[in-house]
Amino acid sequence: MPPANKVHAQWSSRMGFVLAATGSAVGLGNIWKFPYMVGDSGGAAFVLVYLGCIFLIGLPILISEWLLGRRGQKNPINTMQELAAKNNRSQAWILVGFSGVLAAFLILSFYSVIGGWSLAYIKDAVVGSFTGQDGDGIGALFNGMLESPGKMIFWHTLFIAATIGIVSMGVTQGLERAAKTLMPALGILLVFLVLYGMTTGGFKQALEFMFKPDWSQLTGGVVLAALGHAFFTLSLGMGIMMAYGSYLGEDISLLQSARTVVIMDTVIALAAGLAIFPIVFANDLALGQGPGLIFVSLPVAFGNITAGWVVGVAFFCLLTFAAITSAISLLEPVVEFIEERTPFSRQVSTVVAGLAIWALGIAALLSFNVWSDFTILGLNIFNFLDTLTSKFLLPLTGLGVILFVAWCLDKESVRKELGLDVYDFSIWNLIARYVAPIGVLVVFFTSL
Ligand code: TRP
Repeated sequence: MPPANKVHAQWSSRMGFVLAATGSAVGLGNIWKFPYMVGDSGGAAFVLVYLGCIFLIGLPILISEWLLGRRGQKNPINTMQELAAKNNRSQAWILVGFSGVLAAFLILSFYSVIGGWSLAYIKDAVVGSFTGQDGDGIGALFNGMLESPGKMIFWHTLFIAATIGIVSMGVTQGLERAAKTLMPALGILLVFLVLYGMTTGGFKQALEFMFKPDWSQLTGGVVLAALGHAFFTLSLGMGIMMAYGSYLGEDISLLQSARTVVIMDTVIALAAGLAIFPIVFANDLALGQGPGLIFVSLPVAFGNITAGWVVGVAFFCLLTFAAITSAISLLEPVVEFIEERTPFSRQVSTVVAGLAIWALGIAALLSFNVWSDFTILGLNIFNFLDTLTSKFLLPLTGLGVILFVAWCLDKESVRKELGLDVYDFSIWNLIARYVAPIGVLVVFFTSL
């Protein structure tokens, strides 16, 4: 993201903007979280509902966040404040901005724990820990890490430190330039792993698991999980996309950009599933084992192909990179919030935000070992943070965004801004006013 103090700075090109937005969207959500949620929720029914949520709810909300950001030209809280005032609406709309900052803070704390796992696995791949291991061996390696709070704290700290370093030095733009080559590299590596999956004997089962729905698996909880994940994976409901939109020039098409980002995000998530599930089936690994899924399945491939350790190192480096580009987008709004409301400089604000997130992250990682019995509303700390954000804060904030755009802004100006003719705009209106908000509300209330 361009430096926060240059409020009227603009992306140099549509490409730069789309890359930054994709960098935020594509991350652990696609490669770590999506596959394990598919595994936990019983497969294809979840995948199809998720795709529906992405296109009918996520896509219009993404467009709405950008549109608000471009109009407000400020950070999310001030943007909501100003646009609400201009359109004679209640100042309560600022809550949308606040809830976004809170969500960012909470998400980054557990996100960074998983980023730490990814870093730890770079080391494991380098020293050859995966070589020749079967599913059990890799499982033991992973559990060894879970049982050691010290190790996890070390890697979590390193991940947060890297994120803080990048944000406080303000070199995020350099990172986006790197994304131009590294993101496609991640995509190519995933394709390679999908091809490997085809040789394992588990590919057909994986395809069926992911795309042949057994609707009996569909519960209210599964639908809410799919909806929440649509928000999480597109970085919605947190104002981050609004912030990106504030740097957007008038000439850039919101619809085209949104289509590109959504398609890339979706393709990467599906590819990750197609890389992981063949290995899971071929090695009889547990489908519904939760957050560890990618960390016990892919290394089996790295341990058993020629020069697999190199592939493993490359994979976890690229995964870490994708995680860092997303983590930066999570830290940024928190830093900006502190910077605006305290006398602290940007550097100090970054460190303060980072330390608070780091501390909460430690509580999250202890729920995998010494605090595993401590629960809030029946969830351990890690799951509680994930549930509170993905299933509550993000959808509700996103709902606020789309309701505001669809009901509070002048319709004609929105139509022009989206570049739609009257007919297409009536479709937009139908989705933005009714389909998406009612979808969120129905899912929300039926699952409670
Ligand atoms: N979308 C990212 C991922 O899939 C995570 C993320 C980054 C995020 N910024 C966000 C999620 C803002 C919600 C809101 O890994």
